[in-house]
Amino acid sequence: MTTIGTPLSPRATKVMLLGSGELGREVLIALQRLGVETIAVDRYENAPGHQVAHHARTIAMSDPDQLRALIEAERPDLVVPEIEAIATPVLEALEAEGVTTVIPTARATRLTMDREGIRRLAAETLGVPTSPYRFCDSLAELQAAIDDEIGYPCVVKPVMSSSGKGQSKINGPDEVAAAWEYAMAGGRVSHTRIIVEGFVDFDYEITLLTVRARGADGEIATQFCEPIGHRQVGGDYVESWQPHPMPATALERAQEIAGAVTGNLGGQGIFGVELFVKGDQVWFSEVSPRPHDTGMVTMVTQWQNEFELHARAILGLPVDTTLRAPGASAVIYGGVDATGVVFDGVDAALQVPHTDIRLFGKPESFVKRRMGVALAFDDDVQTARRNAAEAASRVKPRAV
Ligand SMILES: Nc1ncnc2c1ncn2[C@@H]1O[C@H](COP(=O)(O)OP(=O)(O)O)[C@@H](O)[C@H]1O
Ligand SMILES: [Mg+2]
Repeated sequence: MTTIGTPLSPRATKVMLLGSGELGREVLIALQRLGVETIAVDRYENAPGHQVAHHARTIAMSDPDQLRALIEAERPDLVVPEIEAIATPVLEALEAEGVTTVIPTARATRLTMDREGIRRLAAETLGVPTSPYRFCDSLAELQAAIDDEIGYPCVVKPVMSSSGKGQSKINGPDEVAAAWEYAMAGGRVSHTRIIVEGFVDFDYEITLLTVRARGADGEIATQFCEPIGHRQVGGDYVESWQPHPMPATALERAQEIAGAVTGNLGGQGIFGVELFVKGDQVWFSEVSPRPHDTGMVTMVTQWQNEFELHARAILGLPVDTTLRAPGASAVIYGGVDATGVVFDGVDAALQVPHTDIRLFGKPESFVKRRMGVALAFDDDVQTARRNAAEAASRVKPRAV
């Protein structure tokens, strides 16, 4: 049975978000609506989620001492990581000590923050199809891996990185050294390890949002949202849409793979399973044990969006992944490097039929920083994509 207390009372149900960007902010809003007391944590002040939570805390989440001290002081019922760069060994220790519960599990957060952990689990333990890959610690090892096994074209990524940082494609021998240097500069921590993957010539890639939630019988059951198609530029998502049509066989394989990986990671909550598809063939790429950026489209396409699904699943409540309407999302970038920007053209954007927008409230804009998103629904995905892109383009951030 799930019992929810009154916020700011001794029996409050307390949830702490580690990372309070645009995705965390929506999870916080969903939790607020269910009467949960929320603690938003980020590494800088006035982060998007800080602005909507009961409590805002600013710490370095990658620092084990700061993280432990905060969790021990606040004693949340649940700790919900929103980002990868967290001192995950502390989460494992606190979970083992019974201090708190980590969503979906502390082990899942550790395995997925490192490309090596999740890739070895998926490919070697679970045997799901992935691109061919090798891990390397030097330029010489990278060259040898390509020559012996992986071939060209291939993709190099720091094992600790996200949003395409330090990632590049190698088309031939003369590009290897540059890719190595780029990966060294782009990793999250001073760490030389990279993964080199064979390039998968996919027809399209999808995010399969997969929810592990408690059913009426008390058991954890796995449910899938409709596949989300997306387009990445430089490793960062620029637009997404749902549903992405798939042949029945490919969809079945995608669900099997997502079920196997999330089943092993365990716990409760939503996962963004990234898959490559070519005809009936499906490859596992990576997984976020939390809402996924491409899943922002669900704010306009599903009865319960991915943030509401996550909030409900982690509280032990039932979920409904039903699609409401086809739709699309398009990212609104900062376009300028400045603090305290203003956004012109919001009215013009919302004149585009069946659209909505989110402005994340980030204190500082960068040219390529995601500052908002435009959403559109329609009878078909094509129209929704066109309208979401049009609405996004009408919003003009400006330095003042
Ligand atoms: N082996 C690969 N073959 C083809 N494209 C790839 C491969 N690996 C990554 N990509 C492309 O790069 C994007 C980002 O890679 P990903 O591994 O998801 O990194 P990140 O953790 O930064 O999101 C993918 O969504 C896909 O478009
Ligand atoms: Mg990815």
